[in-house]
Amino acid sequence: MAEGVVGVLLNKLCELIEKEAHLLAGVKPNVKLLREKLEWISLSLEEADNKCSKDKEIKLWVAQVRDAAFEAEDIIDQYVYKVQKNRINRWIPFHKIGKKIQEINSRLDKISENRSKLGMGNVEDKGEPSVPIIRKEKRSPSVEEVDIVGIEDEAKIISNMLIGGGARTSAVSIVGMGGLGKTTLAKKLYNDIHVKRHFKCCAWTYVSQEFMLGDLLYDLIKCIKFKTLSSDDIVKLKSMKEEELSGELFHCLKGRRYFIVIDDIWSTDAWDGIKASFPIENKRSRIMITTRNRDVAKYADPQSKPYELRLLKDEESWELLSKKALLGVVNDGNLDELEEVGKDVAKRCRGLPLAVVVLGGLLSRKEQSVYEWKKVGKSIDWHLDEGQNQILPILALSYNDLPYYLKMCFLYFAAFPEDSSISATELFRMWVAEGFVQERGGETLEEVAEDYLLELIQRSLVQVAKRRFNGQVNKCRIHDLLRELAIKKAKENQFLNVNSVNATIARRLSITTHSDIFKDSFENHSAKHIRSLFCSFFQFDNCFWKSLYRRFKLLRVIQLDNVPFSTIPDEIGNLIYLRYLNMKFKGTRCLKLPATMDNLYNLQTLIISCNRGPIPLSFVHGIWKMRKLRHLHINPSCSPNVKHMKLNELTNLQSLSLIKVGKWIMGDFDKLASLRTLGLDGNLSLYQAPLSSFIGKQENLKSLSLSSSPQMPTQIISSRLHELEKLFLDGRLERLPTLQEVAPSLTKLVLKDSGLLEDSMAVLEKLPKLLFLELNKSYSGKKMCCATKGFPMLAVFKISSCSDLEDWAIEEGAFANLSNLNIHRCSKLKMIPEGLHHVTTLQKLVLVQQPPEFFDRIQKDGLDWFKIQHVPSVVTIA
Ligand SMILES: Nc1ncnc2c1ncn2[C@@H]1O[C@H](COP(=O)(O)OP(=O)(O)OP(=O)(O)O)[C@@H](O)[C@H]1O
Ligand SMILES: [Mg+2]
Repeated sequence: MAEGVVGVLLNKLCELIEKEAHLLAGVKPNVKLLREKLEWISLSLEEADNKCSKDKEIKLWVAQVRDAAFEAEDIIDQYVYKVQKNRINRWIPFHKIGKKIQEINSRLDKISENRSKLGMGNVEDKGEPSVPIIRKEKRSPSVEEVDIVGIEDEAKIISNMLIGGGARTSAVSIVGMGGLGKTTLAKKLYNDIHVKRHFKCCAWTYVSQEFMLGDLLYDLIKCIKFKTLSSDDIVKLKSMKEEELSGELFHCLKGRRYFIVIDDIWSTDAWDGIKASFPIENKRSRIMITTRNRDVAKYADPQSKPYELRLLKDEESWELLSKKALLGVVNDGNLDELEEVGKDVAKRCRGLPLAVVVLGGLLSRKEQSVYEWKKVGKSIDWHLDEGQNQILPILALSYNDLPYYLKMCFLYFAAFPEDSSISATELFRMWVAEGFVQERGGETLEEVAEDYLLELIQRSLVQVAKRRFNGQVNKCRIHDLLRELAIKKAKENQFLNVNSVNATIARRLSITTHSDIFKDSFENHSAKHIRSLFCSFFQFDNCFWKSLYRRFKLLRVIQLDNVPFSTIPDEIGNLIYLRYLNMKFKGTRCLKLPATMDNLYNLQTLIISCNRGPIPLSFVHGIWKMRKLRHLHINPSCSPNVKHMKLNELTNLQSLSLIKVGKWIMGDFDKLASLRTLGLDGNLSLYQAPLSSFIGKQENLKSLSLSSSPQMPTQIISSRLHELEKLFLDGRLERLPTLQEVAPSLTKLVLKDSGLLEDSMAVLEKLPKLLFLELNKSYSGKKMCCATKGFPMLAVFKISSCSDLEDWAIEEGAFANLSNLNIHRCSKLKMIPEGLHHVTTLQKLVLVQQPPEFFDRIQKDGLDWFKIQHVPSVVTIA
C-alpha cells in the first residue's frame, strides 16, 4: 500500500518538475532530490508490502516511509498552493519550505539505511506473475446470476413456504452467519418465475445497518410501480416524507397478493419502522427476510420458524471453487493433481461460500499449477489461526495478493455506504482523479480503470449489481464483509477513515452516517491532511461547508449526495487542487454555480445533478480555464450564458452532457478531438451547419444524445461516425438519418417523440449491430411489420406510447436474438404481435397499461396464449 502512496507522490513530483517547474522556483533542487530518494525507496516497497503482514519491523519501516511521503506531499501541496494564490504578490518563504524538504530528505536517508538492515533491497523479487483478465462474454441484460451451487433443495423448501402455507400474511426468514449465501438464495427465489407468478406485485430492498426508512420505502414503491412511474411521479415521491411514503406503499399493496424481500435486516427497530407499511390481509402475501440475527427473524413473525441456512458440503465447496478458479479453462494434463490440491483448499474454507468464491478468484489469477495452489492452501492454514473473526483473514489473502494499484482501488470501496450500488463510470473517474490509474498504450485512463474493475470482479472481491445492455458493468457493489475488510485495511494504511475524524493523517474521509457527531470534531480539528471527502447524508448547514472549503484547501475529490441547498458557497473556489467534484442535489429548484469556480483549473470531472425538475443554472463563465476537464455533466442541461464558449480550449474533454446549444457552437473546435460522449439540446435547427461540422469532427464519439425542439434536423448527423455506438434522438424527425451509413457500429438507439413513419422499420431492422432499440412516442404509423432476417442482433426492444399503432406483424426469422420485449401504453394495439410465437429466444415480456382486450387475449384460455406461452417471464401491469 505504501507503494501506492509513494507512487502517487512520485507522479505528482514528476509532473511538477517537468511541466510546472516555474511553480517550484527556489526549491526545485530539493524537490528533485526528494524524487530521487523516493524512487530508490519505492523499489523496495513492493517487497516490503508482501512481507509486512508477517514482520513487525518491516511493518514499521513501511509506515515510516508512508508517513514521510505524506508529510512531503503536505509540504509541497501547501507550498504550491501559496505560490498559486500569490501570483501577483510573490512573497513566498522559499527558504522555510526548502528547509522542510531538506529535513524530509535526511529522514529518507535514515529510512534507506534501515532498509538494508532489514534484509531488503532485492529488486529482482517482484512477486507473483499476473494472469491476464479473462473477460466474461458480453451478455444480454439479465440479473447477474452467480454460479450457484448446492442450494436447490433449500430453494424448493422455501419456495413451498412462499407459495404454499396459510392465507395469512407471513414472514419467511433465512438466517445464518455473514457470507453464508442468504442473499444469494433470496435472489434466486426472487428471480424464480415459478415463484413470482403467484404474486401480484414483488419488490426487493436492502436494509443494512445504517438505513434510512424513507429511502427504503421509496425503493419498494419504485420497485412495485416499476415502469408506470413518470418522471413527475418520481419527483413527487422523492419529496415525500416518511409517513407519506409509508401510506403510499400501504396503498400500493392493499388488496393485492405481494412478495417483498427485505434483505439484510439487522435490528427489531428496523422491522418496527417498516412493518406498518404492509397491509395484513388473508391474501397469502409473503415478506421474505434475510438476517444474521435469529431474534429479528423471530420478532418479525413469531409464528414462522426461521430457516437456518446450512454450510456448503466439501464437494459443493470444490464445485464452486473450481468454477471460479478455472473459469472453464483447464490446462492440459494436470487436472487430477490440481483437483486434489483444490479439494484441500476448498475444505479449508469450512463450507462458507464467500470464502470459497474469494479464494477461487485468487486462484483464477494464479498459474494452474499444483505448486501455486498449494502455496495458497498453506497460507490459509496460517491465517486461520489468527484473529477472532475467521473469515476476514481468508478474505485478506486475496487482498494481499493484489498489485498495489488494485489495492488502492479495492480500498476505495470502503468509502461507499453499506449495501449501496456504485456507478462504475463515476468510480473510474474518481480513480483517475486520485492518480491510481496507470497509463497504458493508446487507451484512455478511464478504459484502463474499467479493466481494474473487471479484475476485482474476476477475483470476486467486487460484485456486479447491474450490467448494461451490451454486457458492460453499469453498477457494482461490495459484499458487507469485504467492505469490512476494506475499512479495516484502509484505516491501517491511513488510506481512508469512515465516520471518524480523530486526529490522524488519513488522506480520505467518508461520512456514511446520519449522526451529526462530526460537526464539532470538524470545527475543532483541522483535518488538513484530507484530500478526498465523501458524504452520503447531509446534517450540515451551508455555513459549515463554507468554513470547510476555507480550511480544507487541499481537497482533490469531493463526492456529495443528497445536498439540500440551492447554493454552492463562493469558498469552493479555494480548492484549487480539486480534480473531481460530484454534487447530487436533492430537491433544489434553482441553483447558481459561483463564479469562483473558475479557479478550479485542476478539475477533471464536474458532475452536478438534481433529482427534481430543471435547475436554471447560470453557468461558470470561465469554464475553459479548466483545461484539464475530462468530463462535464450537468443534468438537467445548463445554458452557457456567454456568447462564445471557448470549448475548444478543453482539449482533454471526453464527455460533455447535457449542454444547451447557442451561438458558442459557431466557434472553432479543431482541438476538441477527444470527445467520446456528447449531449446537446435546444432548438438545434437554428444551428444546423455549425452543429453538423462540430459533430462531424468528433471521430472518437461513442455516444451522442441530441434533444431538439420543435424539430430535430437530421442533417446534423451527416458525416460518418465510425465509433458511434449509442444514439439518443429526442424530437420530431423530418426523416430518419441514413444510420446504416453514418453510424455503422450502432448498438443502441433510442428515439423519443420522433413521429416515424411506417417505412422506417425497414431502415432500422437492417442495422447490423443493433442490440437495443427503444421507440418512445416515436412511431406514428398504424402498421408495423418486421421482416424476415430483420433486427438480426437485437436483444432488447422497447416500444411505448405509440398511440396510432394498431397492427404489428413479425415475420418468421425476424428478431433472431430478441430476449426482452416491452410494450407500454400502445393504446390502439389490441393484441400481441402476429408471429411473436416464432421468436423463441424471448426470455422476458413486459406489458404495461395496454387496453383490457389486449390483456384478455393473453390469458391461458385466450386467443393469444399460444404466442406467449413459450416466454419464461411475462410481466403485466394494467
Ligand atoms: N450457493 C452458492 N453458490 C455459489 N455461490 C454462492 C452461494 N452462496 C453464496 N455464494 C457466494 O458467496 C457470496 C456471499 O453470499 P451472500 O451475499 O448471499 O451471503 P449472505 O449470507 O447474504 O451474507 P451477509 O449476511 O453478509 O449479507 C456471494 O457473493 C456469492 O458469490
Ligand atoms: Mg446478504
